[in-house]
Amino acid sequence: MNEFVYTYPTAVYFGEGAAKKHLKNLVAPYGKTVLLAYGGGSVKRNGIYDELKGLLTEAGKEVVDFSGIMSNPTYAKVQEGARLVREHHVDFILAVGGGSVVDCCKVVSAQAVLDEDIWSMEYQSGKFPTDGIPIGAVVTASGTGAEMNSGAVITCEDKNWKGPIVGIAARFAILDPAYTASVPAMQVLSGAFDTLSHAMETYLGQSDRDNVSDDVALAVMRNTVVNMRRLLVDINDLQARGNLIWDSAMAENGILKVGRLIDFQAHQIEHQLGAFTDCNHGQGLAVIHPAYYRRIVKDAPEKFARMGREVFGVDGAEAAVEALAGFIQECGLPTRLSQLRSKVEITPEVLRKVADTCNLIPSGPRQLSRDEIYDLLVECL
Ligand code: NZQ
Ligand code: ZN
Repeated sequence: MNEFVYTYPTAVYFGEGAAKKHLKNLVAPYGKTVLLAYGGGSVKRNGIYDELKGLLTEAGKEVVDFSGIMSNPTYAKVQEGARLVREHHVDFILAVGGGSVVDCCKVVSAQAVLDEDIWSMEYQSGKFPTDGIPIGAVVTASGTGAEMNSGAVITCEDKNWKGPIVGIAARFAILDPAYTASVPAMQVLSGAFDTLSHAMETYLGQSDRDNVSDDVALAVMRNTVVNMRRLLVDINDLQARGNLIWDSAMAENGILKVGRLIDFQAHQIEHQLGAFTDCNHGQGLAVIHPAYYRRIVKDAPEKFARMGREVFGVDGAEAAVEALAGFIQECGLPTRLSQLRSKVEITPEVLRKVADTCNLIPSGPRQLSRDEIYDLLVECL
């Protein structure tokens, strides 16, 4: 294994009623003003907002709302949040939502205490934040594992760029399966596919043989597939939703990634597709993965074969890729780019820009050329 240092900053509170049991104690050490951050309104409709606001008020906090954080959060939204934090002298940020809300808030936390623009600081000066307004996360839609790390994925609309910005990790994460009960079926499955993708992309990066990370990644994949299948039978199966929340956290808490390299090429392609189209992250991945894996299956035949055997119960590397493609269909996830929600028509010209601007990952089974990425995207039209 490669050298590594592993520490973990986020305390996890899993289980039904976790916010009621723990939130007041968790926010007690911080000052009076809490930024309550959320998305487009689901938390108001399902009662989570009222419950959390009530708990914060009982804890003696004054609440400032930061609403309307969109899926694929923008850099402009980050700046809006940072302004609110400064104007109201916010002491603590409570991010309530899926990956988009949590990501936005992790960067708001850092930006609010910086004099410089965080994108320029990270991408031009190569410096990363070490401090921010303390933050906690309440997960209402799982899949990204955003609550388990300091990395965020933000869309800079003026740059046609969607990519990582390092923010500040949450001090705690509340994972209550009941809080995800109102997430629509397609979002639950898209989120779970994102988890599967994280585990596959970690596993397919370069590692020593017999690395425990590979074994854990395969277990996370297998468990994600089993629980997605349970949801195909009964979408309201709360135990399966809970299992998927923890799969999601396991895939992104760093455990799978220590001591090895990761692939994440499908993610890089999807992020840039998202920059141009604003498509749903998990659904974009569902379209891209089979086409990408058909291109690299011969570069890592043993790994693909092992994944096929241990996750899908099939023999052979190519069979593993086709089993994955079949599973995507079985879940009713999109299989063509034309099925994605998009703010623009997805044309070969758009795909050329995606291929020309996405990050290239050297640590996957084989680094694709930009032309290969363009070809595989066109194949998915
Ligand atoms: O905005 P509201 O009204 O809350 O609706 C949301 C949104 O429409 C809805 N939702 C959330 N909780 C709900 C609910 N609807 C009903 N009941 C509830 N309890 O779900 C929709 C999707 O939410 P969003 O947060 O956008 O989805 P997701 O969790 O998939 O996050 C996607 C973002 O995370 C990034 C993606 O790129 C994308 O920007 N990622 C972040 C990662 C990280 N930080 O580690 C890793 C991932 O690879 C990913 O890139
Ligand atoms: Zn992802």
